[in-house]
Amino acid sequence: MSKKIALITGGGDCPGINAFLASVVRRGNKEYGAEFIGIRKAFSGLAADKPQDYMIRLDTDKVVGLENRSSTILESSRFNPFTDENIEKGYPEKIMSNLEKLGVDGILGTGGNDTILSALRFESRGLPTVMAPKSIDNDVSGTDVMLGFRTAIAFGAQAARSTADSARAHRRISLVEVMGRQAGWLALEIGVASGAEMITIPERPVNLGELCSEVKRLYKENEYVNLILAEGTSIPYNDPVILRAKEKSDLVRYLMEETPELDAFGNPKLGGISQILRRVLKIELGLEKIEEVRTTDLGFTLRGLAPSADDIILGIRFGIRAVDLLLDEKRSGFMVGIHGLEIREVPYEYALKPKTVNRSDRELQALGVFISSNQ
Ligand code: F6P
Repeated sequence: MSKKIALITGGGDCPGINAFLASVVRRGNKEYGAEFIGIRKAFSGLAADKPQDYMIRLDTDKVVGLENRSSTILESSRFNPFTDENIEKGYPEKIMSNLEKLGVDGILGTGGNDTILSALRFESRGLPTVMAPKSIDNDVSGTDVMLGFRTAIAFGAQAARSTADSARAHRRISLVEVMGRQAGWLALEIGVASGAEMITIPERPVNLGELCSEVKRLYKENEYVNLILAEGTSIPYNDPVILRAKEKSDLVRYLMEETPELDAFGNPKLGGISQILRRVLKIELGLEKIEEVRTTDLGFTLRGLAPSADDIILGIRFGIRAVDLLLDEKRSGFMVGIHGLEIREVPYEYALKPKTVNRSDRELQALGVFISSNQ
């Protein structure tokens, strides 16, 4: 294989991606004399009429100090070349032919499950690809952690401790909402590390009546409660508590009935659980003022952080292994992952198995996760 490699960063941005890029470019330049072009906006840039407009040449000089920078210098997109509509429009072929025009022989990149799925599809069309896992959600299999997760936990825990201290001082119920889609890793670890009284995760659907009783008990006992809520926490639509809240609150009615938008990979755009629960608690606990329940949505504050040392090191190690796989061993179709202390390659098919919180009820309960009795 010749040595012109395209770099892409797809899906949600997060800390550690730039460390991966810097590492790939440095090692690829030095060990293999490879040339690198960064493509802005991942597959969306590659599908453009003028992909050269999305091209950024990267070499060792240009990546000095890049490891520490937040987000991704290549920008990102959730463009899916393989939707029925985009297949019909010929986007997969257009991308392949653009890559050929650019003289590119392979792709190295970072992504979550959606970008890895696209990489798998291009791999099966003959394009060599190697990916590194990134997402604050930590929901890809075959790696203990994904890039961004550890930085998000460190900052998220600090932020949640701050809201907890404030809730204690003001004798309030504090609800902190965090991302994670259908995986509760982020909520679980932020909750544990910040000493939350209660944590909800998507893997354990919530009986709202029971949750409200528990919050009431804790509020009575301590005069404050700190809850960490995963954005994907599941509440049954026909829960009597929700039906009551829908009658009394326009916002709950609106949020429960709103059909969530889907992204290009069919993932629902989540968010809003803390707003629903805030009203539900006011009603069910008979609180005089909604002020007694305060909400904080950590949302995107966890995505644009400067990487922690852990994520910089992980990005660098992922970069080294990815380059060696593609340019030295001439192997592709893999995600690199970390297992214990070791960096290993994982077939895409394995990486794409969903990774949700798989601990026992007993352990989760001990960690503060709310488990309804009717599980
Ligand atoms: O990066 C993953 C993630 O942060 C999810 O937790 C969240 O639901 C989603 O991205 C939102 O991303 P966007 O609004 O950028 O598509």
